Order: sequence, then C-alpha cells, then structure tokens
Amino acid sequence: MWVFGYGSLIWKVDFPYQDKLVGYISGYSRRFWQGSTDHRGVPGKPGRVVTLVEDPRGCVWGVAYKLPTGKEEEVKAYLDFREKGGYRTTTVDFYPKDSTTKPFAVLLYIGTCDNPNYLGPAPLEEIAEQIFNAVGPSGRNIEYLFELANSIRKLVPEDADEHLFSLEKLVKERLEGKQNLNCLKRPNH
Ligand code: SIN
Repeated sequence: MWVFGYGSLIWKVDFPYQDKLVGYISGYSRRFWQGSTDHRGVPGKPGRVVTLVEDPRGCVWGVAYKLPTGKEEEVKAYLDFREKGGYRTTTVDFYPKDSTTKPFAVLLYIGTCDNPNYLGPAPLEEIAEQIFNAVGPSGRNIEYLFELANSIRKLVPEDADEHLFSLEKLVKERLEGKQNLNCLKRPNH
C-alpha cells in the first residue's frame, strides 16, 4: 500500500514507512481551501490547510510512501486518525519523478467540498490573513505553510506552485510588517 502526501504528510512524517518516492499526480491542484479545527486552528477560528481540487490541467507534486509490509492496516488507521478533520481517501495514479519507475496507484487524503470543515476559495489576501492569525493544537498555521513551501522548493525546485508560493510571500510580508511594528514600539533606552 502506497500513500501520497501533498501537504503535512510531506514534512511531518510521524509514521513508519518502507520506501518513499518523489513524484506527482495529475488532474488536481493543491489549494488552501480546507479548514482545520484540530491541528492548525480551533472551532470558531479555523486555520487553513491544503486539499486537492479537481483541475483537468493541474499537477500536484508530493511524496509517496510505501507502508511497511504487514503493518499497512495499522499505519493506515493512524493516518485516518491524523487526517480525520474532514478528509476521506481516494485512489489515483502516481508518476514518480524518476521516470524509469512506472506509474502506480496510491491512496491519498482529500477534503472534498461536502465535508464540514471545507472552507473553499477566497481572495488570496484573505487566506493569507487567516493563516497568519490561526493557531491550533499542532501549532501556528504559518508553520504549516512555511514547512510545505520549503519542502516543495527542496524536493522539486522546478515546481512553480503559484498558489502556495504566493501565499508564502503574502504571509511573510505580514510577518515582516509586524516585526517592524514591534521594533518601532520598543522604547528607547
Ligand atoms: C496530505 O498531507 O497529503 C494531506 C493534507 C495534510 O494533512 O496536510
């Protein structure tokens, strides 16, 4: 059993696996359209995490993990728990970056528009503002965004994921603006 990660499963690997491969899936785009009330936000003040939206021209890079033989169901049960905030599983074809390895089927977690935490599209500035402010039991929402952007940059330097990198830029601007403000507020000694 192989599981494809395109969000926190890329950089927060707290589960055992036997093998991993970088690659992509097609027919989807990655969007910060899923609300998070159990990891990066709280009920009433959700954070925003990624889900996949159908897009015939889309392509999403990530990492596929082979679950350890004999422990597939155990690890899958852990992942189901971790991804319980509105995600369900589906199967798609995965194309390894190393094209000498043939495409194969992977399981992935998707938050479709009918789940209770789904937030859907919004202007990028609004999404950035929400990510900048949200915090939940797993930490600040900005950490999720920055870890994901850094991982994609490192694993697939040629991937120009405009949605992801535009949000990273907007949130960094907010962070820098706040730091400058804190500096100005500091009393002179
Ligand atoms: C994933 O990482 O593949 C699912 C979404 C998330 O947990 O961030």
